[in-house]
Amino acid sequence: MLKPTEKIWHNGRLIAWDDAKIHVLSHVTSYGSSVFEGLRCYATPAGPAIFRARDHMRRLADSAKIYRIELHHTIDQLVEAMVELVRVNGLDSCYVRPIALRGYGDVGVLPGNNPTEMYIACWEWGKYLGDEALSQGVDVCVSSWNRMAPNTLPALAKAGANYMNSQLIRMEAHANGYAEGIALDEAGYVSEGSGENIFLVRDGKMYTPPLGASVLPGITRETVITLAHALEIPVVETIVPREMLYIADEVFFTGTAAEITPIRSIDRITIGKGSRGPVTERLQKAFFDVVNRKAPDHHGWLTAVKAEQPVGA
Ligand SMILES: Cc1ncc(COP(=O)(O)O)c(C=O)c1O
Repeated sequence: MLKPTEKIWHNGRLIAWDDAKIHVLSHVTSYGSSVFEGLRCYATPAGPAIFRARDHMRRLADSAKIYRIELHHTIDQLVEAMVELVRVNGLDSCYVRPIALRGYGDVGVLPGNNPTEMYIACWEWGKYLGDEALSQGVDVCVSSWNRMAPNTLPALAKAGANYMNSQLIRMEAHANGYAEGIALDEAGYVSEGSGENIFLVRDGKMYTPPLGASVLPGITRETVITLAHALEIPVVETIVPREMLYIADEVFFTGTAAEITPIRSIDRITIGKGSRGPVTERLQKAFFDVVNRKAPDHHGWLTAVKAEQPVGA
């Protein structure tokens, strides 16, 4: 259950959590016209640090551009706002949710006098697919729902409306006793989970669907590809037939929420040995070493959230 924090950032000001409200006739409620982000702030020995803050805000700006949603703040201003918000809320580790939505004004589909309302909220959050998921792996299914077809709802934009599709995938998986569903694209090739990108490993090589397979350009996906290069594990971005999932040695999800979560079965077919595989484990270690500042941050992926300096310090 969501635990409120003190403040939410709205259009350049910090407001009380309970004051972050919109009118029911805002454009977004009827038409799903929002773009948003999800980030993690990690507790590190040097204080809290937001993971890939700028890259997430850049993706927000990209999503807004695709939908012609005007943002009134630059990427740098939004990064600064997010850091300030986490700092004033006094959280060490948390999830951060920036949202840009079309607000109240005109009620037709065509946005007109609907000002962009930009919010950033943060709150404490645990492991997305359960505490054991990272070490034990999860049981998932291939969804009967496809991901959005190209040129319908653009998958590269992280838009609120896309998550109606994600809800169908996730709810069906849940109803059938699975932790998550893997959606295929409209051509029948593997796309992604309802809120995660997917990788598989066979004979020491990693495979992941390309951006043209209706996937979100995940920041964790890109992180894992970069880490794999450093570990000299070959990565191939290619269309993935469904059956390649079943015969893989390892399969794992990546995402801000899921981090790097092993998949131990798909449609009740055991993947590899039915537990976290060695490549997944190496990547998890490389990933958590960076986000927990146990390894050097070569790529500048962490943005420090400095504690407020006492007056006169
Ligand atoms: C549909 C979808 N795919 C993939 C991801 C993973 O993206 P990221 O690693 O940027 O969190 C997410 C999470 O935001 C998502 O919602």
